Amino acid sequence: MKTISSPSAMQRWALTQKKAGRSIAFVPTMGALHEGHLSLVRRARALGDLVVVSIYVNPTQFDPKEDFSKYPRPIQRDASLLRREGVEILFHPANLYEPDASTWVKETDLSTGRCGGTRPGHFKGVTTVVTKLFNLVLPDVAVFGQKDAQQCEVITRMVRDLCLPVRLVIAPTLRERDGLAMSSRNAYLTPEERAMAPALFKILSAAAARPATSRTVWARESLAQVGFRVDYVEECGSRLCAAAFLGKTRLLDNVSISPETRPSKKLRRAAR
Ligand code: PAF
Repeated sequence: MKTISSPSAMQRWALTQKKAGRSIAFVPTMGALHEGHLSLVRRARALGDLVVVSIYVNPTQFDPKEDFSKYPRPIQRDASLLRREGVEILFHPANLYEPDASTWVKETDLSTGRCGGTRPGHFKGVTTVVTKLFNLVLPDVAVFGQKDAQQCEVITRMVRDLCLPVRLVIAPTLRERDGLAMSSRNAYLTPEERAMAPALFKILSAAAARPATSRTVWARESLAQVGFRVDYVEECGSRLCAAAFLGKTRLLDNVSISPETRPSKKLRRAAR
């Protein structure tokens, strides 16, 4: 695996590969990798000749209350995990913004509610950095995780609206044995909070099976009862999406409400 840190070197490498007729599958990340990320990398492996993974903690998607400087950055560990997966390129830029940058990519519909409501400016940061990364890595296909459902919706809309020449693949959420969605933020949970955390998936799964009229209210009340501070529970297309705090940690999850893509039997059993 080769590590590239210069944006222009990244773009040169990508152009050379394209000229040689090789396809690029891309997984953008902010590092602190876990099995969920590695499942995206494995998916990418099957989709392109070459796999590029980026690790860049993007400052513009953090809001002022969030601690950008404290976000975990275990780069040596991450690099060895990616090496083991046979990734060709780790793109690890130090900075992707000019000091006087004044051009942004902003989606103005799907990014406004839910996480966009609680974290103003977050999706503008995400769409801007993802566009930059696409322009540098030139992927044929890019893989995103379903756990960040709204991010997937917003990026899908952006790719459509801006005619970006990349195919998006949304890969299913990987879960711990007790059903908790894998996330870098799980590391922030205290042991007590970690023990409570699987209730988010459990309650969402149970709510998804309830009549549409009572689903979201029931989920909100049930989450509050077991100790979550609920940010939102909302139905978005065929998914029931939620964000809820345990202490200072904001957890995200979403489940399908259409029967054909319900969680597997094993996961439903774990959620009981
Ligand atoms: O999902 C993430 O880790 C980030 O939002 C992304 C897509 C890498 C952009 O910084």
